[in-house]
Amino acid sequence: MSIRFTIDGKEVLAQPGQTVLQAALAGGIQIPRLCYHPALTPFAGCRLCIVEVKGGKGPIASCALPARDGMEVTSNSPKLFELRKTALDLIISDHPLNCLTCEKNGDCVLQKYAYEFGLEKTSYVGETTAYPNETGNPLIEMNYKLCVMCGRCVLACNEAVVNQAIDFTRRGFATKITTPLDVPRKDSDCTFCGGCVDVCPVGALTDKTARFKGRISETAKRSVICPYCGCGCSIILDIKDNQIIRSRGNPEGPANHGWLCVKGHFGLEYVGHPDRLTKCELRIGNGELVERGD
Ligand code: SF4
Ligand code: SF4
Ligand code: SF4
Ligand code: FES
Repeated sequence: MSIRFTIDGKEVLAQPGQTVLQAALAGGIQIPRLCYHPALTPFAGCRLCIVEVKGGKGPIASCALPARDGMEVTSNSPKLFELRKTALDLIISDHPLNCLTCEKNGDCVLQKYAYEFGLEKTSYVGETTAYPNETGNPLIEMNYKLCVMCGRCVLACNEAVVNQAIDFTRRGFATKITTPLDVPRKDSDCTFCGGCVDVCPVGALTDKTARFKGRISETAKRSVICPYCGCGCSIILDIKDNQIIRSRGNPEGPANHGWLCVKGHFGLEYVGHPDRLTKCELRIGNGELVERGD
């Protein structure tokens, strides 16, 4: 039986087990959110999705709040706006605003909310993350300075891909998302499936093969089935100037629900390779190569 409650005076229906945020989104009510990802367990770290519940003790993260019958939820008020703006301000205090050259420009959740909340710069100037970028593999680049500690990549790797290649390490300001023993990704259990890259809401984890070729916001999108094995994974191709710039898992894909393996994610460059055969060819008895048309 459905759960009935209200958000900002509007009646909302939820299914048992759904959170207030999930019910809000299903009912067409937008609540700011950064660490939430529909395919992953709520992490409740960013605090952008806070709401107030009548009779409650104070603002609470709606992404981890189970919907209950009769709740009266406020998702939008001057107080919530200020609290969310402060949370964003604190995130930006350890985030270089490198949008000019960032691969995520135009498709960045942090940028979207900074714009919506009118935050041009932080009010909290202090120490910032100094870990160098991880660039020692040909496929994935990790820019620690851009990481907002949303936990999406860790959840993707641990509960969706079930590979446990990365996790939070160290504590407090020194917290770092990395592999066991902090070894380079190429020497770890990482299979380079790209799942962490696809869920990262900012420019921290990016597809190195696509760097400076065309941002997600600048490319045409095509949904195709992966040409490798028979699983039938659905891929979104980003295309620019008739070239595949990058491939990403399609969350709508019934066989893969957004997740790919390394072949589907990073192995499609052959499609535009100059050595690729574009016509059928046949080698006849004397070894001569005969073209047989398209
Ligand atoms: S991650 Fe987002 S906000 Fe940060 S530099 Fe890149 S586009 Fe700008
Ligand atoms: S590429 Fe895949 S296996 Fe490697 S860290 Fe990311 S999600 Fe885990
Ligand atoms: S790398 Fe991206 S997905 Fe992972 S915690 Fe940082 S911002 Fe979130
Ligand atoms: S989206 Fe709920 S705390 Fe981040």
